[in-house]
Amino acid sequence: MKETNKADVLLGLQWGDEGKGKIVDVLTPHYKVVARFQGGPNAGHTLFFENKKYILHTIPSGIFHKGCVNVVGNGVVIDPYIFSQEIGQLGFSTEELQESLYVCSKAHLILPSHRLLDAAYEYNKGNSKIGSTLKGIGPAYTDKVARTGMRLADAFASDFQAKYDHLKNEHIRLAGSLGFDATELKLDGLDFEAYEKAWLLGLEHLKSLPVVQSELFINETLDKGARVLAEGAQGTLLDIDFGSYPYVTSSSTIAAGACTGLGLAPSRIGDVFGIFKAYCTRVGSGPFPTELHDENGDHLREVGQEFGSTTGRPRRCGWLDLPALKYAVMINGVNHLIMTKADVLNQMKTLKVCVAYRVGDKEYDILPFSINPGQLVPVYDTLPGWEKDLDKIETFEELPPALLDYIRKVEEFVNVPVDIISTGPDRKQILVRKGSGILKRLSVNKD
Ligand code: GDP
Ligand code: IMO
Ligand code: MG
Repeated sequence: MKETNKADVLLGLQWGDEGKGKIVDVLTPHYKVVARFQGGPNAGHTLFFENKKYILHTIPSGIFHKGCVNVVGNGVVIDPYIFSQEIGQLGFSTEELQESLYVCSKAHLILPSHRLLDAAYEYNKGNSKIGSTLKGIGPAYTDKVARTGMRLADAFASDFQAKYDHLKNEHIRLAGSLGFDATELKLDGLDFEAYEKAWLLGLEHLKSLPVVQSELFINETLDKGARVLAEGAQGTLLDIDFGSYPYVTSSSTIAAGACTGLGLAPSRIGDVFGIFKAYCTRVGSGPFPTELHDENGDHLREVGQEFGSTTGRPRRCGWLDLPALKYAVMINGVNHLIMTKADVLNQMKTLKVCVAYRVGDKEYDILPFSINPGQLVPVYDTLPGWEKDLDKIETFEELPPALLDYIRKVEEFVNVPVDIISTGPDRKQILVRKGSGILKRLSVNKD
């Protein structure tokens, strides 16, 4: 029997912002289709080339490569207002968009009133708030699971307005019971009514794109032998099942999410690229065992420009956490690791990496059930820094010995090779290890 053509998956192994957008952009020339499988405008994926920076929220990160079809899959939740703003920023012609951006009829819509509910729930949580991006993600996925949500296909039906009004009124009633009034809320600087108008215009824009059933489109593309890359948002430690619940997002951010979020059978998953930063960051609330509250943390934030791509909030920073990385590699079946932002550590004399958690008199080398502060103490190994600029380095093999040792430490701990390293935000700042399976894999024709 002929071997099945498989889709590769690329996702984050930490708390998001690992540099997924940049890496997808770098890998896109090897793929015919790039498809987002979950999340929504809570994501902020940064691409940098020709001295310009682009931040994508819902649009897949293959969009700047001519000939690549970018698909927003059924597992994504779409806010038509934000989506339409994002399309506007691309500066593409209508014809270019028709060829490069497809949306799934089964993707759920984020209504303005979902954002109202997000704000109401967060407000009511007080000190235990999630630190949500307030883009309506949680309430939109809640409606999906409660079987009360609206999908893009609903926007083409004659009873759309009636359904919309019904759901909106439900949300407003619920928010009201939590002491929240739609008239008092500003959404992206607009009052509720103005946002709703802009949202409805955005919906028309969205409807004008090619609307497909992503499961059929993706499987047919694979059947034709063309290559597909599934792009994840957020990160494994924000996953609804395996993340630091309840401080998580509301979707499956893991490799299995690519199956449900695009209609891919598990047997159709090929390589799994796991992206991690050379250290850790987290934005929003929730446990973070290796978080630094000292000058090292400030240094990482400043040098790494660790401010949220979606909300601008300062990101919490800390040392690399190997037990958490090992857990993420296991959950996703990662077979190629990609390390980003090593350059941020360039000036540090010594580096720490967490190699275990101590809970009472026990030590764990993989993420335990609870990582709440006070319940565990990270155990660190100290390694020398490389104290060198990486700018002039042209091959992986020329990296400073201390950085190669740092990489080896990761590989030995999680038992998966680091095949690519990113040494700056630009598309060109990338080094691929010679002799690694990845080069052979990527050199196959994209279609
Ligand atoms: P994503 O959500 O995973 O796509 O990541 P974000 O775009 O939210 O955050 C990653 C940030 O790091 C962005 O500002 C990128 O431009 C930047 N970046 C990506 N890779 C590197 C790298 O290797 N070095 C440095 N210094 N910055 C990087
Ligand atoms: P990308 O794709 C980092 C975090 C929020 C909050 C929690 C829940 O750019 O890596 P939500 O808005 O989903 O209800 O927020 O998840 N969060 C992210 N953190 N990167 C992201 O996406 C994130 N998307 C959500 O800060 O703590
Ligand atoms: Mg991001």
